[in-house]
Amino acid sequence: MLFSHLRVVVAGALAALGDATLAPKKYHTIPLGKIRPAGWLKDQLQVQTDGLAGHEHEFYKWVNDTDWVGGTAAYSYLEEVYAPTLEVRVNFTPQNAMVPNAILAESPVLKQKTWEFLEYVLDTQDETGWLGPEVGTDKRRELWGRYPFFFGSIQMVEFYPELTERVVDALHRFVVLANKMLKAGKLSARLGTDMWAETRFEDFIVTLQWLYDNHPRGQEDLLIDTMIESKWSGIKWELVFSEEFFPKVEAEKLENPFPELSWHGVNMAEGLKALPAIYRFTHNQSDLDVASKGWDMLFQYHGRPSGAFAADEYLAGLEAVRGTELCLVVEAMFSASYLYQVTGDPKYADQAERMAYNALPATLTGNMWGRQYLQQQNQVASKNMTPNPFPEDGPYSNVFGLEPNYPCCTVDFPQGWPKFITHAFLVTSDSKSLVHLYLGPFSTSVVLADDNLVTANVETLYPFGDTLTTTITATKPFTYFVRIPSWITKGTVSLNGGPPVAVQPVKGLHAVSVDAGKTTLVLDLPGDIRLESRPHGSIAVHRGVLNYAFDIPRIEKQLSVHPAEPRAVDLEFTPADAWQYAIDPSTIAYSNNPPASGILPSPIYDAGLPPVTLSVSACPIDWPLDGDMFAAPPPENPTCVGSWRNITLWPFGAAKLRISEFPVATMPKYEFVAQHGVDEV
Ligand SMILES: *[C@@H]1O[C@H](CO)[C@@H](O)[C@H](O)[C@H]1NC(C)=O
Ligand SMILES: *[C@@H]1O[C@H](CO)[C@@H](O)[C@H](O)[C@H]1NC(C)=O
Ligand SMILES: *[C@@H]1O[C@H](CO)[C@@H](O)[C@H](O)[C@H]1NC(C)=O
Repeated sequence: MLFSHLRVVVAGALAALGDATLAPKKYHTIPLGKIRPAGWLKDQLQVQTDGLAGHEHEFYKWVNDTDWVGGTAAYSYLEEVYAPTLEVRVNFTPQNAMVPNAILAESPVLKQKTWEFLEYVLDTQDETGWLGPEVGTDKRRELWGRYPFFFGSIQMVEFYPELTERVVDALHRFVVLANKMLKAGKLSARLGTDMWAETRFEDFIVTLQWLYDNHPRGQEDLLIDTMIESKWSGIKWELVFSEEFFPKVEAEKLENPFPELSWHGVNMAEGLKALPAIYRFTHNQSDLDVASKGWDMLFQYHGRPSGAFAADEYLAGLEAVRGTELCLVVEAMFSASYLYQVTGDPKYADQAERMAYNALPATLTGNMWGRQYLQQQNQVASKNMTPNPFPEDGPYSNVFGLEPNYPCCTVDFPQGWPKFITHAFLVTSDSKSLVHLYLGPFSTSVVLADDNLVTANVETLYPFGDTLTTTITATKPFTYFVRIPSWITKGTVSLNGGPPVAVQPVKGLHAVSVDAGKTTLVLDLPGDIRLESRPHGSIAVHRGVLNYAFDIPRIEKQLSVHPAEPRAVDLEFTPADAWQYAIDPSTIAYSNNPPASGILPSPIYDAGLPPVTLSVSACPIDWPLDGDMFAAPPPENPTCVGSWRNITLWPFGAAKLRISEFPVATMPKYEFVAQHGVDEV
């Protein structure tokens, strides 16, 4: 009651604002295709393309059960969009992920598929402006199913400028209709805004802002009016993320005062970009402040050492066996990139990089043919579990396979790496400077202000190495910025072969004055070993961007295979050896054995493959299971029940079964002496 009253009052106030303009973003994105992955990251994208992401259209019903280019199958497939069921999302979703995957992996087949799908949807736009075929259906029109398609279309226009007219025409026609639907919905029954549109309205706002920034065609007022209508048709993220209402424990322990999807992991991951998007038309600093504070609370109360947060459907607190949904990881990465672009606050970029290099690869098999629905920070098995540790998701959720639990992540996850790559470089709002945001092997070529043609090539094994060598060419002098992550305390930079000097980041960016011609920049960014306190007195171990885990040797069992694709298998993993260890963090030692060839194994994210490891003294302890099979909480003050030994910790993303939140014990001195064979003291 209170909120609906508030809604009318504030909407009225906003409509009266009058001088409608959009606040600029602090940093602009660079069009899809202008930033390319190199080295191991290029290989990683190829692994993805050779896996499920590049083949699901050939056999997977949610991408394939349609003849896109016409027939009735396509219609019944797309019709799902009108039904308010969970599956509706997958229809238009593949486009959002497949487009950047196709272009960055230079896959002719995927390019053709995405092109056909775009044409099919544009060709079936009806006279009202509605997009997608609609034949004789009496189901409600829902707006939100189209949003991932809009993101796909925007990315296509960035890469294929020849599509601009058609796509922009279609979007403007759609906006006129959507505006009417939203306004009519406000007055009587909702129109086009089911519970999903109510939480995901920010995706539409971001699309409207892309039109406003790039192709307004004199429709600025209508575009801003539609942004305002979208915002007021949706849930109040400014309240959900406020100190007063934010859930500080597992969602199932509380009563949600808002619509239930407001505490739903993927919707929150998408909703993280709502307030910065809204800020652009409200110009209200409070929107950015709440977004920032809400972000901090999200990670304080639900964060994972992997960089993600926990929500096994709904927010899931801090226990190491609760789940993090794969869709949440890729959507939170995308939102973090957007938050950085609007605000320039480096914490968003740090978190996105942590998710990309830890949480994302951890939840896919090395060859990227299998994905989980939920990953756990301590994951001693991936199998059908009894009892089930996830209050809202099925017991099969952490199996690696084609579509455990729900199909959505199968079609959504392929956006993860490609969009991370596309957001790795940005330009400043005055277009004079280039910003290297995400560290890793990339190359880019952009024209900055004053026709300054700039290229940058970054050679590095990062995050599997500390050194980044960047070669920059420019036709005119300019300032180059590179992000120095907050966890770097001893970073140095050397310019054109000069002596290394300490980096001096301001708001996370180190500035370098670059002359016309060629410049070489060598960054050395050794990470300190950092311990993070976790529940029950346990600790997580980080070095640099990487979280480290004990990689539990695994037994693999094939549970099923897709009849049309023998590579699409569901795999059960169970532990082949002990995982019950307490560690003594004072003994952690880092080692790096880079390959002599300079080329990392492919794929890199699997057992025993990364060149960087930590060694730590550990003792066996009693640590029971809580059912079949997930670990009980780490025991506090555990007693050693065997002799001390060294165990190896591997990058979290490579450890498909693992312990990453460890009980702590102190190795007695005599053990240390015994290890060194001088026990005559
Ligand atoms: C669906 O799969 C069939 C058989 O592999 C293939 O011929 C067809 O092109 C696929 N459809 C789409 C839309 O990719
Ligand atoms: C800014 O947002 C806050 C929180 O939603 C609200 O209380 C305040 O009235 C807004 N300020 C303006 C000028 O609209
Ligand atoms: C454990 O690792 C430390 C540090 O690398 C090393 O000094 C020690 O010899 C190792 N102990 C055993 C028993 O391997």
